[in-house]
Amino acid sequence: MTVSFDTFDRLKGKGVAAYQNGDYLAAKSYLVDAAECMIELAEAAKTPEARRQHEQIAAELIELVRDCDASAAGGRRGKPAPPGRGGKGGGPRQSAKVEEGETDASDWIVRDKPTIGFDDIAGLDDVKEEIRLKMIYPFAHPELARQYGISTGGGILLYGPPGTGKTMMAKAIAHEIDATFFVVSPAQVMSKWVGEAEQNIRKLFEAAKAETPSVVFLDEIEALVPKRQSDSSTVMQRVVPQILQELEGFDRGGERALLFVGATNKPWMLDEAMLRPGRMDAKVYVPLPDAPARYKLLEIHFTGRPLADDVDLGALCDRLEGFSGADIKNIAQQAAQRPFLEAVAGGEARPIAMKDIVAEIEANPPSVHPSDLTRYEKFAETGK
Ligand SMILES: Nc1ncnc2c1ncn2[C@@H]1O[C@H](COP(=O)(O)OP(=O)(O)OP(=O)(O)O)[C@@H](O)[C@H]1O
Ligand SMILES: [Mg+2]
Repeated sequence: MTVSFDTFDRLKGKGVAAYQNGDYLAAKSYLVDAAECMIELAEAAKTPEARRQHEQIAAELIELVRDCDASAAGGRRGKPAPPGRGGKGGGPRQSAKVEEGETDASDWIVRDKPTIGFDDIAGLDDVKEEIRLKMIYPFAHPELARQYGISTGGGILLYGPPGTGKTMMAKAIAHEIDATFFVVSPAQVMSKWVGEAEQNIRKLFEAAKAETPSVVFLDEIEALVPKRQSDSSTVMQRVVPQILQELEGFDRGGERALLFVGATNKPWMLDEAMLRPGRMDAKVYVPLPDAPARYKLLEIHFTGRPLADDVDLGALCDRLEGFSGADIKNIAQQAAQRPFLEAVAGGEARPIAMKDIVAEIEANPPSVHPSDLTRYEKFAETGK
């Protein structure tokens, strides 16, 4: 995702307005998004100084998020001035620390029992097989794994262009081994990280260890484990080693199924120490769908929708080369809207025709640029 200052301003504006109206739930959601946006802008900053400034704004927003939590729970404190950006809008605000210091991990760690499995994911057969080998078979056959000295558990990195099914795959892994899925978004994690970073990483892994089999999923992991540089924020200087330590501490010989799955669109931005064997046991490229996978994607996303006889899935499959799974899902949804809207306007309720789908393909070019793919292929080859 490419974020802009306009997006940031919009989100921040909505968040602050909701905050001032006392709608803390909505405020929190906008402010977390705004903070996440600012964190991305910090990453893209041209100078260390700009980066520090952006990180500072993100940190202030995160404090405001905590204020939302505290205010929603009652006992609203004084209305803080919203954080600004550069010289624009809002002044420096009084620091409003959470008095108790400690947060209850249960309010930010989301547990889930995903219901999607490998069969729901189109294509990616190599990826599934690699995951089965490294992550699923050792748990399904612990005795054999012990006999052959095959390690269990560990970390896996899923990387590749947006919309190719990485998040789906992480959930499906949990489903396949009937594990509890522990998920936190970077924004949630960051919001808890300011000032108490390491403890929260520890809490996340402790919670997962207490409920094995479990899968800990960190999406957009490059935001949490970026390459450490001399000008990295102090939060990152502490957090990266903590995550590495947690990964090294995994019991790879035992039967306590604890898996760590990280996903990223920018694997080259990850701290190199994270990529070494022993931390990430497998690094798996999740590419754009090939022709059979595109066919399956069309089937998945047109199932349950009326299709005209002229719809030729094979021909569509060829036209959709270079499109991601998410792109294809979107095209199917948009194509279905055409006859739907006509019918709503009083027309005849006709099935989705080839022309509807082709028009949507033409209107929605692939979200991934071919030059991006070269970058992933280079990483797959060189690990850099
Ligand atoms: N291989 C696939 N099989 C079935 N559906 C898919 C596949 N790839 C993508 N999709 C569809 O696209 C949506 C987005 O996929 P998902 O969120 O898993 O992508 P992602 O790789 O995690 O993207 P990002 O890098 O942007 O986080 C899914 O909800 C799903 O409907
Ligand atoms: Mg994802």
